[in-house]
Amino acid sequence: MVYLTRVEHFNAAHRLYNKAWTDEHNNEVFGKCANPNWHGHNYELHVTIKGEPDPETGFIFNAKTLGDLIKDVVVEKVDHRNLNMDVDFMAGKFTSAENFAIGIWNELQPHIKKRGSTMHCVRLVETPKIYVEYFG
Ligand code: NI
Repeated sequence: MVYLTRVEHFNAAHRLYNKAWTDEHNNEVFGKCANPNWHGHNYELHVTIKGEPDPETGFIFNAKTLGDLIKDVVVEKVDHRNLNMDVDFMAGKFTSAENFAIGIWNELQPHIKKRGSTMHCVRLVETPKIYVEYFG
C-alpha cells in the first residue's frame, strides 16, 4: 500500500464561541479564539490517498488532479471566508479544527471514491503548533 499526500493552503477567519455559555466561561475555554471580532488562521491542508500504483502510470492517484479537486471542492469555498458565516458545510457547527477536518473529509471523499480511489486522511494544520487528523 502506498500513501500519496497533496498539500494546499488557504486563509480563513472564525470564532469559537458557545452561545449557551457566559462570556466569562467562553473566555475560560476558548481564550483568544472567543474574541467577538473574529481572528484568522493560515491553514495548511494535507489530503492523503492510499492505494496500489496503477500499472499504466505508476500513480495511485494523479497528484495534479488531486490538487485541482481540493481547490475546486474545498479551497474555493473556504479561502478568505468566515467559517462561521460563509461556509455551507460548517453551518451550525463549532468551527474547531476537528469539526473543520471532518467537514473537509465529507466534502472531498465522494469525489475521490467516484474516481475509484480511497481517501486515507485529512490533516488540517491550524497553527505551527496544532494540527488534527481525521481518518473517516
Ligand atoms: Ni482559531
